[in-house]
Amino acid sequence: NTEGTEAAKRAAGEAAAAAVADGDVVGLGTGSTAAHAICDLGERVADGLAVEGVATSYQSRALAREAGIPLLSLSDVARVDLAIDGADQVATGANALVKGGGAAHAREKVVASAADEFLVVADGSKLADPLDHPVPVEVLPDAVARVERAVRDAGGDPALRDAERKDGPVITDNGNLVLDCDFGTIAEPASLARTLSGIAGVVEHGLFVGMADAVFVGGDDGDVTRRS
Ligand code: A5P
Repeated sequence: NTEGTEAAKRAAGEAAAAAVADGDVVGLGTGSTAAHAICDLGERVADGLAVEGVATSYQSRALAREAGIPLLSLSDVARVDLAIDGADQVATGANALVKGGGAAHAREKVVASAADEFLVVADGSKLADPLDHPVPVEVLPDAVARVERAVRDAGGDPALRDAERKDGPVITDNGNLVLDCDFGTIAEPASLARTLSGIAGVVEHGLFVGMADAVFVGGDDGDVTRRS
């Protein structure tokens, strides 16, 4: 959750959901903004729209079930027509996102990369150019010390993400840990993305570079700007 209002998130989510067509296989993103798209899609399914969803997390699977959207298993899916997902920070100029505030970025990236069209939904508080949000990095539990060192060598400051209502760290849906890595201002997201991907033990990082086909930015008044 961010400073963005629910009205702005809803406007963005619903605008992206409107792009879904009959027969589509749809990637269902994680977080409070994507949740609005899932709920809206559920209403259209109740009205007769035939779609199949692919969930990016435990949360989006539960929401989709509740909304009545039929689901495919990610393990059986090589291609989706369109994926809709939120972001923690968006640099539209660089076509770069930071994701993983909900620790779901590994599955989110698999689904986004499988999508013919990847639509990002956000409220205006997420826009930042350049990016400066800490980058979530999902790490094999046994590799944490090694990855922390490599992140420091790359100029970052890693912090193991702690669970809010548990004594101990966040465990992802894939059974891994998350390092939130502060690199300050990220001047070259593509280069940092390559560096992080090259560290042994990194399952996936939250920098999504060159992946978004459009960003729907919701305003508090319910207006939506589409940036491509
Ligand atoms: C989940 O891991 C993230 O990538 C989310 O997409 C992100 O945190 C956006 O969530 P909100 O829409 O709740 O800000």
